[in-house]
Amino acid sequence: MDNKITNFARHHRWVWLVASAVLVIVAAAFVLPMMTTQGVASAQDAYPPLAPLPDVPVPADNAITPEKVELGKLLYFDPRMSGDGSLSCNSCHPAAAGWGVPTAISFGPAGASHWRNASTLLNVGFYTKLNWDGAKKSIEKQNSGAWGGAVAGNLDKALGEERLAQIPEYVERFQDVFGTEYPTWEEALMAVATYQRTLVSQNAPADAFFEGDDSAISEEAKRGYELFMNQANCIACHNGPLASDDSYYDLGVPTHPDFYDSPLKQITFRYENAAKGVPEEVYRTTDKDLGLYYVTKQDIDKGKFRTPSLRDLCYTAPYMHNGVFNTLEEVVAFYNGGGGDSPNKSDQIYPLGLSAEEQSDLVAFLESMCGDKITDEAPELPPYGVYSPSEGGN
Ligand code: HEC
Ligand code: HEC
Repeated sequence: MDNKITNFARHHRWVWLVASAVLVIVAAAFVLPMMTTQGVASAQDAYPPLAPLPDVPVPADNAITPEKVELGKLLYFDPRMSGDGSLSCNSCHPAAAGWGVPTAISFGPAGASHWRNASTLLNVGFYTKLNWDGAKKSIEKQNSGAWGGAVAGNLDKALGEERLAQIPEYVERFQDVFGTEYPTWEEALMAVATYQRTLVSQNAPADAFFEGDDSAISEEAKRGYELFMNQANCIACHNGPLASDDSYYDLGVPTHPDFYDSPLKQITFRYENAAKGVPEEVYRTTDKDLGLYYVTKQDIDKGKFRTPSLRDLCYTAPYMHNGVFNTLEEVVAFYNGGGGDSPNKSDQIYPLGLSAEEQSDLVAFLESMCGDKITDEAPELPPYGVYSPSEGGN
């Protein structure tokens, strides 16, 4: 018995040698990089790298065609797609100004307010979860709430379809694009979502830098990049081509004072909580946007929001789900101080110890992720048809 084991060990000694060698190589590959940055894994290796944006993902059932984009653009700018006929998507996401209203908290339809900062629509086609709390899983689904929701477009679906049916040019365009007799709500959503998928930023100096052109950004921005990747730990959540991991965190962002200055905002807040099925004892005792909690109803998700992209920030102030910070300097100072105070705050948010100069380097790097400014002109909208009893109307 003993002999057998000894023989086995002797005959298979080479196996052990090879196994040990492999172990040493593997250990070296993993442990050495971990030691390069203050004992933690090298950020560059641990996260999807910052990189130029790939082609925008397109749903299998909603291909991008020039005719659909054109139709989507008309619908985007058309205020008849709101209950009282006064608000278009462009009212709250102005194409001329960063594709999101520049106030902290968005306004709403007459008699209501919104309760969050209007997100920019730049690069929105790259997210897999929409809205600050990531509650909607496609642009099409998000937009149904944007046209129909009580604090946004406030348009009844059947009324919207009827309005479209009474605009002859729309009837024709929908027939061309979708092949149906009269426009439907779902088709209108497909068209307007397609328009948004074309809003992709281009030519950010940082993209050339990510691809190896060392002269594409300033020395300041390069130092900011090193901080972003290491000491400032931004890469932990803002990674990949969009500089967003599409995941959720609580940073302890403070409540915006505007939130208290109007009864309409308080009404909207309570309405949203009730509409999202939050138990009365929870929403009557909180003055904070509960974020991901609305989706999961789990206490640990209170205050968590989807990581936003960091592209094109120079066009999209103010920042955060409630627009509480007006400048990138304020945002960086907030992170440098270790974020806010909150029970569910991420352990990736801690005091960074950056000097004033390092903070401004970080801002310079963020600014280098701004591409060419994307705007669009309001198109001329097709008029309603003239009802003619002899022809029967539409
Ligand atoms: C009354 C103002 C208002 C109107 C009208 C409005 N929006 Fe918004 N939009 C907002 C606000 C505020 C948010 C943030 C909502 C949230 O996170 O819950 C938002 C969020 C979005 C998002 C999510 C972006 C992201 O990064 O997740 C998309 C997409 C969007 N809107 C598109 C549209 C489109 C298209 C229309 C027209 C069909 C429209 N919106 C109409 C105010 C508005
Ligand atoms: C733990 C994950 C995490 C880390 C680390 C992190 N962020 Fe964020 N970032 C987020 C989330 C989540 C939000 C949205 C929070 C909210 O609205 O309440 C956000 C928002 C932002 C915004 C506002 C964007 C907008 O469109 O309003 C900026 C700018 C930003 N972060 C920059 C940074 C910088 C710079 C660093 C490093 C110093 C950093 N972040 C580190 C998760 C993170």
